[in-house]
Amino acid sequence: MERLPLQPAWALLAAFLLASSATGADEAPSKNKQQPAPPCTLSGTWVNDLGSRMVISAANAAGVFSGSYLTAVSSANQAIAESALQGAQHDPAQDAQPTFAFTVRWAFSDSATAFVGQCFVDQHGEETLETLWLLRQNVPSRSEDWKATRVGKNVFTRVK
Ligand code: BTN
Repeated sequence: MERLPLQPAWALLAAFLLASSATGADEAPSKNKQQPAPPCTLSGTWVNDLGSRMVISAANAAGVFSGSYLTAVSSANQAIAESALQGAQHDPAQDAQPTFAFTVRWAFSDSATAFVGQCFVDQHGEETLETLWLLRQNVPSRSEDWKATRVGKNVFTRVK
């Protein structure tokens, strides 16, 4: 019976590399393979589960942003008006699903709301802001402080 001669290690390695490149093992991923979704960004127009709408500007280098908020609901006996918001987010380039916080100083009432949340993006690129908020109302005396703060949750989806 004929015997195959023993191959040196470098020859075996070269044969393996040739074989793996022939099968495309280290080719770039093909178009129909899933790619990571682009980072979640806050800038744009959002609507929440109550029907409130907000517009957020592009964040600056420090992650600081501003915008406007038009609430669909109110606890105040005043006509609702668009109100200014200000906030800050972590860098989406460092963290694709950044956390953020913003406040709204209501233009038509003496209340203020603080929102905290995280921007999530799914495999289809759909972005959702999951938030919790504290709404502080103005009460005439310290003895009424106990009833001055409400807490809730809002989920925002991108309009554009
Ligand atoms: C007020 O009631 O004095 C001002 C309006 C507050 C609207 C609240 S903030 C939390 C919740 N999410 C909304 O979109 N609107 C309500």
